[in-house]
Amino acid sequence: MSQAELPRLTVIGTGYLGATHAICMASLGYDVVGLDVDDRKIQKLRSGEVPFFEPGLPELLAKTLESGRLRFTTSYAEAAEHGDIHFICVGTPQQPGLDACDLSYVEAAVRGLAPHLTRHCLVAGKSTVPVGTASHLLGLLRELAPAGEEVELAWNPEFLREGFAVDDTLRPDRLVFGVASDWARERLTAAFQPILDLGTPTVVTDLATAELVKMAANSFLATKISYINAMAEVCEATGADVRDLAQALAYDDRIGGRFLQPGLGFGGGCLPKDIRAFAHRAEEIGVGQAVSFLREVDAINRRRRSRTIDLVRELLGGRLDGARIACLGAAFKPNSDDIRDAPALDVARTMHGLGATVRVYDPAALDNARRMYPELRYGTSAMDVARDADVVVLLTEWAEFRQIDPTVLAQVVRRTRIVDGRHALDADVWRSAGWEYRALGRP
Ligand code: UDX
Repeated sequence: MSQAELPRLTVIGTGYLGATHAICMASLGYDVVGLDVDDRKIQKLRSGEVPFFEPGLPELLAKTLESGRLRFTTSYAEAAEHGDIHFICVGTPQQPGLDACDLSYVEAAVRGLAPHLTRHCLVAGKSTVPVGTASHLLGLLRELAPAGEEVELAWNPEFLREGFAVDDTLRPDRLVFGVASDWARERLTAAFQPILDLGTPTVVTDLATAELVKMAANSFLATKISYINAMAEVCEATGADVRDLAQALAYDDRIGGRFLQPGLGFGGGCLPKDIRAFAHRAEEIGVGQAVSFLREVDAINRRRRSRTIDLVRELLGGRLDGARIACLGAAFKPNSDDIRDAPALDVARTMHGLGATVRVYDPAALDNARRMYPELRYGTSAMDVARDADVVVLLTEWAEFRQIDPTVLAQVVRRTRIVDGRHALDADVWRSAGWEYRALGRP
């Protein structure tokens, strides 16, 4: 396809998903306009700054800005004028105090864009939404867009992981096209041709199935993590070792070892809120029983946090108040500065609330953590926060924490006691360096 024939793309919402999508599509040769209602975000992106931590993305942003194929705007009129395909990439967070997902940003994006749509075009949702959202949005588009029936809607869920976002976008393990017409299918094919040319498996389906795929995938991943963490609870009661158990399960390739790492459990902006939103929507449409196990998956996951605190308490001889605790990690996972529903900070905050003096270090998420939890203390390195600590707690498995030399760390702490919340360390090495080592689900 020549440059002139490539569909022109817009990406509405420039958070993790949208910024990555816009930058990657421009890097593939498409002419892309990214839109956000947050002017500061747009200013940053225009000046070549990625507003969040994502390995490889800043370099790709610089390259694509220079190519002239990527622009950013806050104007829906400009976006509508530019785009043949408009990707909706805004957030769908959990509603405060409810399990349901907050669709107000998706709805606002459609309401902002639709009145400017005056020609045949495709709106393609990428945001994670409860099944049924697309049909509601199609109604809105048809009602508000001057082009009326000429505006089509598709659903094209995104499976990127933070920390691997560029690779997951450019070399996804599959594409899902939820479409209602051959034209929409042809448009999405044109939008992803370079990725399809890599032989990427593609599932073409209806809108509802495409919406469901994402919820079902994230629910499966969350279930797998909670499954191994449930086994950890059984191991704790029996003196068995969940790490060996997980390893033995993983050799069965029907089970597989990925997402079978026991420990503090899952957090982040996706898995926790998606399982809740899925259970909530299933209840609304009368099939709550089918996914009621997701409530249990959530409960197992929450218990990991309180069990980690129990381990710290046990190491401290029963009391947290007055203890000095070094927390290694704040982000919900390594290679990310994202602290949304971060198990690490949940644990740190709770221990602070129980009267401990908690000092936190994270290689990337400190600014975000400080903003959100100013009551906690922060340090400049693992060594720094561990100084005079009564116990060290590893909460996010950054590579630099795995590489800590236990004999060096032993020189700065008050007591050589460590809780490995992520099963990231070699217990034998730490024990032989004189540390009292504890991990969930391990003797
Ligand atoms: C997830 C999905 O993986 C991705 O496909 C989707 O598009 C968005 O949601 P992400 O939130 O970036 O991606 O993180 P992920 O790598 O899935 O990890 C989620 C959480 O699970 C992290 O807190 C991680 O620490 C935890 N986890 C993961 C475990 O506790 N054990 C594991 O074995 C794997």
